[in-house]
Amino acid sequence: MKKHGTIIGLGYCLPENIVHNADLEKLVDTSDKWIRERTGIKRRRILEKEKPSSDMGVKAAKDALKNSKTKAEDIDLIIVSTESPDYLTPSMACVIQDGIDANNAAAFDLNAACSGFVYALTVSDQFIQTGMYKNILIIACEGLSKVVDWKDRNTCVLFGDGAGACVMTSSDKPGIINYDLGADGTKHKAITIPCTHFDEDELFKRNNKRTQVIFMEGREVFKFAVNAMTASVNKLLKEVNMNIDEIDWIVPHQANMRIITNSIKKLNFPMEKVVITLDEYGNTSSASIPIALAESYEVGKIKSGDYVVLVGFGGGLTWASILIKWA
Ligand code: UT7
Repeated sequence: MKKHGTIIGLGYCLPENIVHNADLEKLVDTSDKWIRERTGIKRRRILEKEKPSSDMGVKAAKDALKNSKTKAEDIDLIIVSTESPDYLTPSMACVIQDGIDANNAAAFDLNAACSGFVYALTVSDQFIQTGMYKNILIIACEGLSKVVDWKDRNTCVLFGDGAGACVMTSSDKPGIINYDLGADGTKHKAITIPCTHFDEDELFKRNNKRTQVIFMEGREVFKFAVNAMTASVNKLLKEVNMNIDEIDWIVPHQANMRIITNSIKKLNFPMEKVVITLDEYGNTSSASIPIALAESYEVGKIKSGDYVVLVGFGGGLTWASILIKWA
């Protein structure tokens, strides 16, 4: 019988430290009004400087294991989605494996920027369909405060830290129904965090020639995001002959409220069925979708039998959407 990936438990972790828009007024020339009106963000969580981001991943992973009633030793594979790892090597997946004692798991990181969690779900489902693995732990873990230039108002007001996780297991029924992944590498300069190579162009774009910090062409990404999200969700549903009115919830990447409302309007979908956490946590890159998913499940919004669409976009530029029938 054909095997399908099914999500059986969710978890998340947010740092305790809350940074309000008013706090940022002391760092850069900005205002609470501008940030709320242009982005929808009111506050974000920021990890203590001395802590590694993987601490959040370990907590989110433990939460997902507990909620799915899965033992760490029964996990066959750990995939971590991150664009802000503690190390280039080892992978964050190995660090988290150690933190949760998942001694029988293979482990690797995946970087598709903010689309990473949906990419990781897709990869996991493929491993399950081939029968190679039974239980997979997927964690999206982002410590963006460590790669933000706190003197750059164009970016520092947008991002926050956090981690979200889920356990996917092999099942006879879907589960995961369909996915759409994509990338447009011609736009790879639109969001960059240089790592080992710093060309003049990248240095010029940053304050004081700072290197390992985020640069983003906000307007270009904005336009791309609305088009990519809309096209991806339409393709996702068309391929399985479903209509948007059959969908119970959309959980979009939380980057900008105007991106979300514009795309949702184009999809002709009611805003009441869209999960929003952006106001509270800002943009936590690939962690934003699993955090929003876990919170909405926790408060009883998403229920068994619901059709849920997750849709992300980000650096690369990449996009990804997935359709799930909730177990
Ligand atoms: O998750 C990864 C994907 N990232 C995204 O999805 C982000 C996509 N882009 C966006 O969300 C928006 O483009 C931004 C929120 C980044 C910027 O909003 P915008 O409406 O596109 O603003 P803008 O870049 O066109 O800038 C408008 C003005 C500029 O001033 P001038 O040139 O008109 O005088 C900026 O310098 O707003 C200024 N500005 C600010 N003003 C106060 C930019 N950042 C700030 C700020 N506070 N923090």
